Amino acid sequence: MTATTAAWLAGAGSALRGEPAIPGDKSISHRAVLLAALADGVSRIDGFLEGADTRATAAICGQLGVRIDAPEDGVRLVHGVGIEGLQAPAAALDCGNAGTAMRLLAGLLAGQRFDSTLLGDASLSRRPMARVTEPLARMGARIDTDAGHAPLRIHGGRPLHGIDYTLPVASAQVKSALLLAGLYARGETVVREPRPTRDCSERMLEAFGYPIGYGAGHATLCGGGRLRATDVAVPADFSSAAFFLVAATLVPGSQLRLRRVGMHPRRTGLLPVLRAMGADIVVADAREHGGEPVADLIVRHAPLHGIEVPAELVADMIDEFPALCVAAACAQGATVIRGAAELRVKESDRIATMAAGLRALGAAVEERSDGAVIHGGRLQAGTVASHGDHRIAMAFAVAAQRAAGEVRIEDVANVATSFPGFGALARELGFGLREA
Ligand code: S3P
Repeated sequence: MTATTAAWLAGAGSALRGEPAIPGDKSISHRAVLLAALADGVSRIDGFLEGADTRATAAICGQLGVRIDAPEDGVRLVHGVGIEGLQAPAAALDCGNAGTAMRLLAGLLAGQRFDSTLLGDASLSRRPMARVTEPLARMGARIDTDAGHAPLRIHGGRPLHGIDYTLPVASAQVKSALLLAGLYARGETVVREPRPTRDCSERMLEAFGYPIGYGAGHATLCGGGRLRATDVAVPADFSSAAFFLVAATLVPGSQLRLRRVGMHPRRTGLLPVLRAMGADIVVADAREHGGEPVADLIVRHAPLHGIEVPAELVADMIDEFPALCVAAACAQGATVIRGAAELRVKESDRIATMAAGLRALGAAVEERSDGAVIHGGRLQAGTVASHGDHRIAMAFAVAAQRAAGEVRIEDVANVATSFPGFGALARELGFGLREA
């Protein structure tokens, strides 16, 4: 599947069987390359996600004067320039579709001696950036936005100072931006969250030898330290595995083994939810890989029933709602999702795009401001718009496996942002899926 593929035609295939290799974790890949760039010495990253999003972060590090070698697919050798070693870029820095790249880099670049500009594609340019630029301004940064949106024009040479900041919305990206700015700030930066989010920045800073204190819902560091090069082993991305967990659950006769999947509890909220719906997923061989909890996931077909999704799990499965909505549409009874208003500001408005797509396939969906009620039933043939959102496109490829006819999924090129090769891999496992 190439980045130029415009649409998919998908429909029932065969029972899904195999042991697919799931690509590297997107969140960890972004952080690994950014921190390796700032470290003293050469870091090796194994399992780096070869997606457009993480490649954008690596390319931006290159524009900032960091040499990054790619000796083979999924491997990067990052020649760190040290905490003060980044250089002024000659041109604007293009984050493409990647919100993580833009928000983390906003924090990192706010503390540099030079000016820089962060750009994004149409989707990223619609996403809220004031949530990072406002607290960064409180730290002393100056970032001009287009009414709270990209492009972000970051003024260099501003002395930063630490703050004690409570995030209004739970966001690992915002927390990470402030911690990265905190590396360059005088004094202590404290970030508090309304609900704990993924702590991959905190864990990675620690792995690079930076003194940091953190626990569920808070993180603290002081500026002025240094990072030591280290090797990073990136686990498979649970968020990418999620599509196959749902697909194998839905298609009769299926059994998949997904290897070395990242199992951090702040990322795996979908597991207890699918199990509560009746899914048969076994966590096998739980172990540590490069300091991260990983396991093999064995999933077999099982009939599902609707549930009320516990609001306290929302942050732990924030990227898995497109897949969950498909599971819900194929379950018996209603599934209720609440407390998930953040879905409206992802790569697309995921409440609206999922509701519209499922309705186009004949499902009954009540849209709410912070969620939806999805009534399970039989999906029909139809055409759905993914709005260039990778996870919406993949979710409907899964839905199509249970539809009564062919499903056309528009605008799927951005699947390459997080899961290059999804189409070919899905076909190998038994999906009915081809390029339109
Ligand atoms: C991410 C955090 C989440 C998530 C995104 C990746 C990260 O975003 O949805 O895909 O790597 O920190 P928010 O911080 O906006 O919740």
